[in-house]
Amino acid sequence: MPPYEISIDRSRLDVKAIHAFLTQSYWSPGIPLATVSRAVDNSVCVGAYLGAEQVGFARVVTDKATFAYLADVYVLEPHRGNGLSRLMMEAVTQHPELQGLRRWLLITRDAQGLYAKFGFTPLSAPERFMELRKQNAYVLQPANPA
Ligand SMILES: CC(C)(COP(=O)(O)OP(=O)(O)OC[C@H]1O[C@@H](n2cnc3c(N)ncnc32)[C@H](O)[C@@H]1OP(=O)(O)O)[C@@H](O)C(=O)NCCC(=O)NCCS
Repeated sequence: MPPYEISIDRSRLDVKAIHAFLTQSYWSPGIPLATVSRAVDNSVCVGAYLGAEQVGFARVVTDKATFAYLADVYVLEPHRGNGLSRLMMEAVTQHPELQGLRRWLLITRDAQGLYAKFGFTPLSAPERFMELRKQNAYVLQPANPA
């Protein structure tokens, strides 16, 4: 097992590497670097590292008092199956700034089994939840050279 490290140290985050994955992900295709950078700046983040290389990431959008939304969880393909997402989830759920919250939310296409290990369940009352979705959110942003 390579000497992976899990860290909540913001100074280690490699925004270009995070963007390189997220802009090709199924949930945020085309997301601009400036948007990823702003999201990272305004989130509680955890990274997985092999030496200086960032090989995994997760971030939490939160008021650090009552609510948290878990987003952008990934591990680079060559490093999957080594327990890194489980370790990042432990770091997230044990994070000192994320204790005593009333509710956590997340959206996933197919990784429900991972999050279930940390107590996440399907919505108990889905009819109470609403969403406002912006299709093609990134197409019109000036920061996007395309
Ligand atoms: C999903 C992902 C983050 C898992 O990362 P990983 O480091 O390979 O996962 P781990 O090795 O830490 O697995 C931890 C546990 O979760 C389980 N698990 C991992 N991915 C899973 C999935 N997609 N569905 C169900 N269970 C999963 C594993 O079986 C493992 O169980 P175990 O501890 O009982 O053995 C990784 O496959 C990935 O980056 N996928 C592409 C991006 C993605 O889909 N992210 C999730 C968006 S919500």
